[in-house]
Amino acid sequence: MKATPYLLFFILLIVSCTINQKAQYIFPNAMPEYVQKAYTEQCDKGQILYNLNCAKCHSKKVKNRILIPDFKAEQLKGYELRVTNMKHEDQLQDTVVTEEELGLIMTFLKYKERSGLEFKP
Ligand code: HEC
Repeated sequence: MKATPYLLFFILLIVSCTINQKAQYIFPNAMPEYVQKAYTEQCDKGQILYNLNCAKCHSKKVKNRILIPDFKAEQLKGYELRVTNMKHEDQLQDTVVTEEELGLIMTFLKYKERSGLEFKP
C-alpha cells in the first residue's frame, strides 16, 4: 500500500481546487507572524478535512452562502467527539477520521472567522 499517501495527497489537492472560497482566520494579536503562517496552513488542511467529514451534517446554506457553525471552545474536545452522540459514533470512527485529522479540524474550527451561526443541537 505504498501508493496510499500519494493517492490521499491528490484527493486533497483536487478537493482543495474545488473550494474557491478560502476561509479567513482570526489569530490572537500576541501570536508571532511565523506562527500564524504555520497555523494558517494547518487551518487550510483542517477546512478540507472538515468539508469531507463534517460539513454534510453541520454546514448550513443561508442565502447561497455556506455557513459553518461557531462551535465553542469547550465543544471542540477532539477524540471525545467520537462518542458524543449516535451519529458521531457511527461516522467518526478513527478508521474514517484519524487522530491527526481530527486535530487539524479542531484547529480550523477554533480559528476560523465567526459566521454568526451558533451551534444549537
Ligand atoms: C452524520 C452526521 C454528523 C457528522 C458526519 C458529524 N456530526 Fe457533529 N454532530 C451531529 C449531531 C446530530 C450533533 C448534535 C448531537 C446532539 O443532539 O446533542 C453533533 C454535535 C457536534 C458538536 C457539539 C458537541 C457538544 O458537545 O456540544 C460538535 C463540536 C461537532 N458535532 C463536531 C463535528 C465534527 C468536527 C465533525 C467532523 C469530524 C462532525 N461533527 C461530524 C452530527 C454529525
